[in-house]
Amino acid sequence: MVNRQLSPLQVNPRNGEPFLQLPSPHEHIIITPLRLTDKPAIIDIMNDKRVSQWLEGPPYPYLQEHADLWVDANKEVCDVAIRELEEENRIHPGGPLKVVESCPVRSIREVKADGTDVFLGDIRVDRCANEELDDDNADKENSLVDANMAKQTGDPSIVWTIGDYLAPSHHRQGIMSAAIAALLKDWVIPRCNVHIIRTYAMLGNEGSVGVFRKNGFKLVKTKKVWKELKGKERGLSVLEWRLEDQ
Ligand SMILES: CC(C)(COP(=O)(O)OP(=O)(O)OC[C@H]1O[C@@H](n2cnc3c(N)ncnc32)[C@H](O)[C@@H]1OP(=O)(O)O)[C@@H](O)C(=O)NCCC(=O)NCCS
Repeated sequence: MVNRQLSPLQVNPRNGEPFLQLPSPHEHIIITPLRLTDKPAIIDIMNDKRVSQWLEGPPYPYLQEHADLWVDANKEVCDVAIRELEEENRIHPGGPLKVVESCPVRSIREVKADGTDVFLGDIRVDRCANEELDDDNADKENSLVDANMAKQTGDPSIVWTIGDYLAPSHHRQGIMSAAIAALLKDWVIPRCNVHIIRTYAMLGNEGSVGVFRKNGFKLVKTKKVWKELKGKERGLSVLEWRLEDQ
């Protein structure tokens, strides 16, 4: 049975996976669920300083055990999202498209001429749990994060955030700008009812700020001194996107 609830994602007849294809000139790029077989590519990318220096979370060096933990947990998030949509389609065939908490696709891949694909990177869209959520009042910050987490799925006042990275071999080709644009337009806005997104980039990460600015984000805060990460003092840029401004 065709799963209408995956709309407007397509389904790959070769492996049954939902996918989002980027528009021209990036139609050779698709976004799919995470796969267990992505681990070697993720380890390579995470051990490249052109990527790792700008990421707060992943450890460096990035080892097999890190990939095992991260991929297993995050693949499950994609699988749960797909199962929820299958269940909805089964219970309410022909019903309205359900508003959901997460996106079933996140892994950026390049499709080769023979139909095989290569893992290139990741985009995740989650509720914002960052201590920078609103202002510099530490006590208030925790309660804001708690309140953001407690809201019902689909509440337009939820503050979301985006994390992303791309293999250095494919930087500066407009891929991440196009991938975020497509994910916002085709899934995040219509299916998660996202109205507010706050994103965070280390000061000096011009690539990340460039991607967000091209997608309508505005710089709302700069902190010259933020925290020490991987042996370097880092500052922070905070950008915000509001649906009503687009
Ligand atoms: C940030 C990142 C995802 C950008 O992906 P990308 O596909 O290379 O970005 P795009 O090609 O869409 O670039 C969009 C704009 O950003 C700017 N930009 C991109 N890379 C840049 C760089 N290295 N230096 C200066 N500006 C840059 C440009 O304005 C560019 O637009 P233009 O090429 O039309 O001038 C990628 O560089 C990356 O993975 N970096 C390491 C991980 C990371 O920083 N993740 C984000 C954490 S907040």
